[in-house]
Amino acid sequence: MCGIVAFLGADDAVPYLVGGLKRLEYRGYDSAGVALMTGVGAAASFEIVKRVGKVANLEAAMPAPNGAPRPTLGIAHTRWATHGPPNDENAHPHVSRNGRIAVVHNGVIENFAALRESLLSKGYALVSQTDTELFAHLLEDVQTKEKLPLDAAVRLALTQVQGAFGIAVLSLDEPEVLIAARRGSPLMMGIRDAQTPGGQAAYFIASDASAVVEHTRHVIYFQDSEMVVIRPGGYEIMTLDNVQLTRSVEQLELSLAQIQKGAYKHFMLKEILEQPEALRNTMRGRIRLGGASPPEIRFGGLEPLMERLASARRLVFCACGTSWHAALVGEYLIEQLAGVNVEVEYASEFRYRNPILARTDGCEDIVVVISQSGETADTLAAAQFARKKGILAIGICNVVGSSIARETDAGIYLHAGPEIGVASTKAFTAQITCLAMLALKLGRYRGAISEEQFEEHVTALLSLPAKMAEIFAQSDKIYEMSRVYRYAHNFLYLGRGYNFPVALEGALKLKEISYIHAEGYAAAEMKHGPIALIDRFMPVVVIAPTSDATYEKLRSNIQEVLARGGSVIAITESDNDDLDAECEYVIKIPKVADFLSPILAVVPLQLLSYHIADMRGCNVDQPRNLAKSVTVE
Ligand code: F6R
Repeated sequence: MCGIVAFLGADDAVPYLVGGLKRLEYRGYDSAGVALMTGVGAAASFEIVKRVGKVANLEAAMPAPNGAPRPTLGIAHTRWATHGPPNDENAHPHVSRNGRIAVVHNGVIENFAALRESLLSKGYALVSQTDTELFAHLLEDVQTKEKLPLDAAVRLALTQVQGAFGIAVLSLDEPEVLIAARRGSPLMMGIRDAQTPGGQAAYFIASDASAVVEHTRHVIYFQDSEMVVIRPGGYEIMTLDNVQLTRSVEQLELSLAQIQKGAYKHFMLKEILEQPEALRNTMRGRIRLGGASPPEIRFGGLEPLMERLASARRLVFCACGTSWHAALVGEYLIEQLAGVNVEVEYASEFRYRNPILARTDGCEDIVVVISQSGETADTLAAAQFARKKGILAIGICNVVGSSIARETDAGIYLHAGPEIGVASTKAFTAQITCLAMLALKLGRYRGAISEEQFEEHVTALLSLPAKMAEIFAQSDKIYEMSRVYRYAHNFLYLGRGYNFPVALEGALKLKEISYIHAEGYAAAEMKHGPIALIDRFMPVVVIAPTSDATYEKLRSNIQEVLARGGSVIAITESDNDDLDAECEYVIKIPKVADFLSPILAVVPLQLLSYHIADMRGCNVDQPRNLAKSVTVE
């Protein structure tokens, strides 16, 4: 949520900053801005350009080079509004009253009101409604009063800030210095050495690696309460308590092609179509089948914890949004296949109540947090909350090196590849694949499933990528169906058992990118209220695989919709013709065991939302008001 880029090097900072913002735009796209350090020594000044809307607006507003030396130091930001609406004034960077400090900030300053009162009483006038502007003034205030160098002033000012932040700071008093710090918002540094072909030595600060991958593969991920002070000759990393740190440089495992749209119209479409490959990558190296030894699933990080997981009193899954839907499927999977008790919680609720968590050996509760980004504030806080209470916290996330990956006791990476489209697609199916593997592993470990069943299920799991690719062969039909329903005002999605969460996910996908109101329901619940909504203008999507033990009940639910004039779109298996005559559209998916059906059933729903949103002229990859990783509460 919000993206920071900063550059200190020897060549023109502008292409790095604007290019980096474009890569980070999926984190927030309400407004964008840069502050460039121009001139040297006492003649240094800021050139600040800010524009409401997309980074393209900022790029168009950037002054053309005029022969003067190009700035080699700058900070930049793409915003997802928290305090104050999106407009030029509220866009970052923000500048202190004396005009000598410029700041960009991700996160939320929670003691905003108190800081505001204090600064107003000292005569500071505010030009924006943001919390970030307050930090710029606070820094000036601290620096003026204490006569501190910039790094010490930043540390001191941050002691007065409550809440989450990732910040980058420039000051005209130290015009060769770039400072960045974090607590609760992700921040990393890219380092390009002088030997890099086509590049000169440079340092990059960014909210995530996508902003730097074009320029360097050498990175350092900062931990919470850390700060970096960068000068042309090098950098120092320290805690916010000023304890010097030595951090090793990591090699970035991300390719440029992975974060580019290529020939696809949208990232979302690319990511939907990448799902077979994403599933293969999720399973790669983790499944052993055939040969002399018994079949096996292995998760490197979890192996030492299997006994604890298998004998846990409860697994408590915490997640948000689409990841929460995957967790719900995980609950069905693990309870059914392994016989382990699972509860699913919204991370935001879990962390603020007083959940009863058991810590007794052999009868403990284990918290499992699930997140694509690994940065969702509530999900991260749920893991931290659990660990504070002495509860084992396991992370299932996609982004390598993310906060959740670092702040959990152990975990599983999805390896689904970068997900740039704001609507989550391939991470969802990879999450369920991962949870199905965990369920099978736990089931075998506990003897809840036999070796033969295990082998059969694992074989089925391995067949999923090829089966998923078969669904894409029906793209034309899904496109046609999308055309028919694109002007509907409301949709209802129904499913049972494993596919109840898929109904929730289908509805979420549609509403977030097409702005059509949609509800997902457990099919039997329809009679308890939503049936009142059904008329001939209401498309009802029913996920009805025959593998589902309640298939006949779903058929009755379909009849109930039809009897009220509703228009039914059914998702069922390719060998089932039962529904062809009754339903307006029937999308056929390959037959798989019931527990794997959500991974296939969601694909037509993703495509339906995608096409409807695109046909309605919506910004599919960057829907209004949303951002990719929700790093504020
Ligand atoms: C919906 C979507 C969101 C995220 C949610 C959690 O398409 O993407 O609902 O699933 O914000 O994000 P992560 O998984 O990154 O924790």
